[in-house]
Amino acid sequence: MTEILITGGAGFIGSYLAEYFASKTKANNITIIDNLARDNIFHHCSEKELENNLTVLKGYANIRFIRKDLRDYEFIKNLIRKNTFDYIFHASGQTGVNFSIKNPIMDFEHNLRATINLLEALKLSNSNPKFFYFSSNKVFGRSVNELDITQGETRYLFRDPTFQGISESFPVINTQHTPYGTSKLCSELYIQEYAYTYDIDYLILRMSCIYGPRQCGGEAQGWVSHIIKKTLRNEPIIIFGNGKQVRDLLYITDLLKFIELTLEKDVVKEIFNIGGGINNAISIIKLIKFLEQILDKNIPYSFENWRIADQKIYISDISKAKEMLKWKPKISPKLGINKMVNWYQDNKNYSLF
Ligand SMILES: NC(=O)c1ccc[n+]([C@@H]2O[C@H](COP(=O)([O-])OP(=O)(O)OC[C@H]3O[C@@H](n4cnc5c(N)ncnc54)[C@H](O)[C@@H]3O)[C@@H](O)[C@H]2O)c1
Repeated sequence: MTEILITGGAGFIGSYLAEYFASKTKANNITIIDNLARDNIFHHCSEKELENNLTVLKGYANIRFIRKDLRDYEFIKNLIRKNTFDYIFHASGQTGVNFSIKNPIMDFEHNLRATINLLEALKLSNSNPKFFYFSSNKVFGRSVNELDITQGETRYLFRDPTFQGISESFPVINTQHTPYGTSKLCSELYIQEYAYTYDIDYLILRMSCIYGPRQCGGEAQGWVSHIIKKTLRNEPIIIFGNGKQVRDLLYITDLLKFIELTLEKDVVKEIFNIGGGINNAISIIKLIKFLEQILDKNIPYSFENWRIADQKIYISDISKAKEMLKWKPKISPKLGINKMVNWYQDNKNYSLF
């Protein structure tokens, strides 16, 4: 039996991970923890949406769900002491940058406190699972805006056409991170500290924009899902900034494949910048234009002020992942967005249309 713990297992990435491991073999035993708090945190995604993720997972006898909060150290300590986990995937957290600016203490509690609770529990336990942490491009903060960039009609571009994006060695200091980026970066540092001092194997994935069906995006986070849902509901979209912001999209199954390869090749104590890379980058305006084309309608949108520390163009340099793992994204944004649109159209009840 392989014992797997997934935090945030009712969320987008956590529920896909649970499904992936549960369906791979019955010899995988999966425990997921989630407090179903995304709704309380964001008010754009209902508990029902998270429960729907759980309904999908209920189809698997080898998944058990525990509704608990990662801020509860005693619970985490006991859970990890009583079980021998082979892998821990730490995918819970509050994910909204703006929310973290409004409420940094809450962000600290859900993100950094929860991570330290897990690490401390691991330190005290007899097991030595591999610890995966789902970090973010926000650890680089606003410093990516210092790169030499230019503006096209619908998107920002790197002025140097050969530049492949932000690599793992890009500086993380002397910049504005937002409290969210800070708690993610501090979590990374604590993970490395615990790894070297208390011998814990880890992998840190600094992800840019993961997308796919079942994602319950909203104005605060999950922009591709948010814009698709708004469009299908015929609601106008608010763009913060000029809409030329670019992100490299990575479809959820490509992320799962990446994780599978790290397990197969037993990669440990590494940090990866993970996204779709230079070939899968798209701006907000481009996404809207693409949706207009495939849905054959005009999408109303308006502009508001830039958000604090928003990155104008963030593209992950994925060469390390390509070289070490012989991995590369398979799903293009066009294909992935089409798949998502079809899924939301086929599952109208799921996302409260
Ligand atoms: N989706 C992306 O594009 C993306 C990009 C970069 C980083 N990340 C990070 O990856 C992780 C997973 O992202 P996601 O898109 O699946 O988010 P998500 O919001 O869908 O899932 C997070 C889950 O964590 C749960 N949660 C929050 N606080 C908790 C707590 N204290 N105790 C127990 N459960 C708690 C929520 O209820 C939610 O179900 C997050 O840490 C996020 O910051 C995601």
